[in-house]
Amino acid sequence: MDNIEGKTAFVTGAAGGIGLSISHSLARQGANVVLADTNVDNLSTARDDLERSGANVTSVICDVVSPADMEQAAQHTIDSFGKVHIVVNNAGVSLGGQTGSIPLQDWRWIVDINLMGVVYGTEIFTPLIRSHGEGGHVVNTASMAGHWAARYLGPYNATKFAVVGYTETIRQELADDGIGASVLCPGWVRTNIHKASLKRPSAAGNETPSVDMVAFSQVAAEVESGIDPDVVGDWVVDCIRARRFYIFTHPEMAPLSMRGPT
Ligand SMILES: NC(=O)c1ccc[n+]([C@@H]2O[C@H](COP(=O)([O-])OP(=O)(O)OC[C@H]3O[C@@H](n4cnc5c(N)ncnc54)[C@H](O)[C@@H]3O)[C@@H](O)[C@H]2O)c1
Repeated sequence: MDNIEGKTAFVTGAAGGIGLSISHSLARQGANVVLADTNVDNLSTARDDLERSGANVTSVICDVVSPADMEQAAQHTIDSFGKVHIVVNNAGVSLGGQTGSIPLQDWRWIVDINLMGVVYGTEIFTPLIRSHGEGGHVVNTASMAGHWAARYLGPYNATKFAVVGYTETIRQELADDGIGASVLCPGWVRTNIHKASLKRPSAAGNETPSVDMVAFSQVAAEVESGIDPDVVGDWVVDCIRARRFYIFTHPEMAPLSMRGPT
């Protein structure tokens, strides 16, 4: 979509990291922005900051694992701005571990957030975009881990490969209605994504990192030395405008996706 000014965008995982940076970039281009997240404190700080910068912004507490929350967030979006044009299904968590020792409840947790959260956002918001006939755009956040499989990243890889495949499908279907689609595949970005796995169900009340967490700490080191999320936010908005499907942030990592198992 060429012109973002005056359009309305809904962003999940918008209280921090990449989602917050995308929200700022959309607001700078003149979009109305609806911030959705589960982190109540960060959400209200993010909304206040954007308001102070002059943005048309509102926020809604929305857990992407809940279709009811997503429906309510959609209603909030329409009540606030009348229409919705852009949906960024970005909320996600990380989970690593060695195959055979990953608690099944942790598997369910990451699939519900990283995959089903994207599905609910897409299923619930695309009819609303279709309904006004002005076109729009859906961005689903996957990862380079949606192209490149690595040891100890089974659950994360599985959800991100799924998001890539799902978005390749919806791209073809939404095009018929003038709605674009993109899949964001970042490399390492300096956010709190590696800390998200501390909230996995099996870690409740457990202060000591498990062996699996130590393996996953390599990922933490990469994230902490990653690129600035604001660079990603601006690039995503450029790509929405250009209707670019694959949004890569680290072209130098592309050859990894063609590499066989090591
Ligand atoms: N940072 C990286 O290196 C990197 C690389 C590739 C892909 N990604 C993806 O980017 C997306 C954003 O992650 P980030 O790096 O900004 O991490 P982050 O942890 O800094 O931000 C994620 C945001 O999502 C929110 N969130 C988590 N679970 C939620 C839920 N159930 N419902 C609603 N909101 C929820 C968090 O509260 C947080 O504000 C994720 O999908 C992640 O997998 C990140």
